Amino acid sequence: MKIPQLTPWIGNKEYKAIKSCFDNNWVTEGPKTREFNEALLRLIGAKYGVFAPNGTLALYLGLRALGIGVGDEVIVPSFTFIASATSVEMTGAKPVFVDVNRRNFQIDVTKASRLINSKTKAIMPVHVYGTVCDMDSVMKFSKKFKLLVIEDAAEAIGVHLKNKHAGTFGDIGCFSFFADKTITTGEGGFVVTDDEKLYEKLTYLRNQGRKDRGSFIHPFIGYNFRITDIQAAVGLAQLKKLEEIKVRKRKILDRYKRLLGGMDGITFFEPDQDAEIVPFRTCILLEKAHKLMNYLREKGVESRTFFYPLHKQPCFIHLQKERSDQHDEYFPNTIFGFEHGVCLPVFPTLTDRQIAYICNAIIDFQKKHERKKR
Ligand SMILES: Cc1ncc(COP(=O)(O)O)c(C=O)c1O
Repeated sequence: MKIPQLTPWIGNKEYKAIKSCFDNNWVTEGPKTREFNEALLRLIGAKYGVFAPNGTLALYLGLRALGIGVGDEVIVPSFTFIASATSVEMTGAKPVFVDVNRRNFQIDVTKASRLINSKTKAIMPVHVYGTVCDMDSVMKFSKKFKLLVIEDAAEAIGVHLKNKHAGTFGDIGCFSFFADKTITTGEGGFVVTDDEKLYEKLTYLRNQGRKDRGSFIHPFIGYNFRITDIQAAVGLAQLKKLEEIKVRKRKILDRYKRLLGGMDGITFFEPDQDAEIVPFRTCILLEKAHKLMNYLREKGVESRTFFYPLHKQPCFIHLQKERSDQHDEYFPNTIFGFEHGVCLPVFPTLTDRQIAYICNAIIDFQKKHERKKR
């Protein structure tokens, strides 16, 4: 059996949606983009939103709207996808890394005070793997040190904390619609805010420094961060499936937990109380994680490691020379996650038979490993 790590759930409905753009002869930003924007704002519960070509550029746009640039520092978890940090680097600012907690690998602000100096302008909580950061602590921390808050909610469409959508706690929230995300437009990003002034900045920045298309007067410097109606049409079709996607993904996670939960030596993420999650990966932790991944590969199952610590990334290693607080000793949980974490498939069309096959392979592996230990 061959089981991929992920596969987007797209089909006839998305195909028809794209066809309608061609039938109406409208492919650049237009009616579908407006409709998708409004639907997303209703879903997320934010006042304003603008699209970006992808999640990375959504973060860049958000950071620029917040005025982050050369000479500034932004606190970013070491445990996240590289784009959280490279979007900061793109503005000319520096990412400074902090560890995460061991329960669910979300940012741990109790370890962040020592990173603060006069250059620290913002903090970027990242809602990783479909669960949500402890935003009460993040917001308290940001108030104490007068930091702007930009949430990386790329993996967190449909995710809530205390009935509030991820991405709506801070000044700005950013989402991704890449092919592996909860809903996809192929590529795509979205930036939300409740602040009218930030929204205004975002609109100028993303549309060549002007408000309206067709004008050649550009009050500000801006760029082209637009998307197409073709993507928005796919997004609208995907949004209609969101409730079903959530149900399916949660059922899949439950099934994994039922089949593997009793196994000695295997643990799952523990989402915080009041968190409404949408599994983005099925995350398990065990001693021989990397050996298990090799074993699963032999069995035709594609798994993934957890994120490689950003403070150790070759592209960011210079930070270790510049700062004593960017060394391994400050990142025990991020390092533990990479060494012991495995992401199992959790896409909406994954069948019970496939889940049973994956779990049986894991159980076999664990038994063999236990026998060797004895
Ligand atoms: C946590 C996180 N941040 C940012 C991004 C960047 O999004 P995109 O791939 O759409 O640029 C991703 C997506 O892969 C992500 O998982």
